[in-house]
Amino acid sequence: MLKSRISAFFAAAVLLVAPAFVSAAGDVHLEDAQIDLQDKASLQRGAGLFMNYCAACHSLQYMRYSRLAEDLELTPEQVEQFLIKGDAKIGEVMKTGLAKGDGQAWFGKAPPDLSTTARGKIGQEDWIYTFLKSFYVDESRPMGWNNTVLAGASMPNVLWDLQGKQRKTEEGFVIQEHERGRLSDADYDRAILDITAFLTYVGEPARLQRESLGVWVILFLSFFTLLAYLLKQEYWKDIH
Ligand code: HEC
Repeated sequence: MLKSRISAFFAAAVLLVAPAFVSAAGDVHLEDAQIDLQDKASLQRGAGLFMNYCAACHSLQYMRYSRLAEDLELTPEQVEQFLIKGDAKIGEVMKTGLAKGDGQAWFGKAPPDLSTTARGKIGQEDWIYTFLKSFYVDESRPMGWNNTVLAGASMPNVLWDLQGKQRKTEEGFVIQEHERGRLSDADYDRAILDITAFLTYVGEPARLQRESLGVWVILFLSFFTLLAYLLKQEYWKDIH
């Protein structure tokens, strides 16, 4: 009886976890996004890029500007001046200017809220990072863009002026000389890493605190290990 209950529990757990694995891995190779949530400058740059390139379509419905200011070590004035577009107030959540129906009508699919995209799913930051790197020109699509990570994506490559226009060839992606973007490959990778870090932080702001707490816990434990070692030396000294 108990045994069958336990196996039912595991079956349910596997069912719950499985979709996360599938959506995160799929059959495309995901690049390892080396984000650093302690790197405030990276998160700040990511926030700036997000407001400029993504916020027109995507909301972050669980994130308030005031929270952003606090966590990213910005003054409310800086947030108002550099991040807030339009007339949103610092205490508000980060909405998009796009009405749901418009997104549906224009892109065939309403752009999803991104406040939980990076949360929980295994390898999700790798997914976002690789996704932002994998747009290519595809005239057969309504917006003229496709994506190898999300085939048939309704999202166009909004970063093309930075990245350039990638084309898919037998040898992989190429960008022709006259279609290069404003950033070098390395700088583009840096930019999308910053956006990915920012979205990962938004997905779970508590992680920022937990990670910095983690460092203290480890230091604390190391200190006590050392203490125990020294004590042991002290006790055994006389016995030997
Ligand atoms: C012009 C509107 C538009 C802009 C601007 C835009 N997106 Fe999107 N985005 C979409 C649409 C539409 C989808 C849904 C794609 C689909 O599922 O086919 C989407 C999907 C996504 C997804 C997948 C979410 C999920 O869970 O399925 C991510 C991640 C994403 N966008 C990130 C970004 C980032 C980062 C930026 C800024 C660099 C950005 N988007 C800018 C329209 C936009």
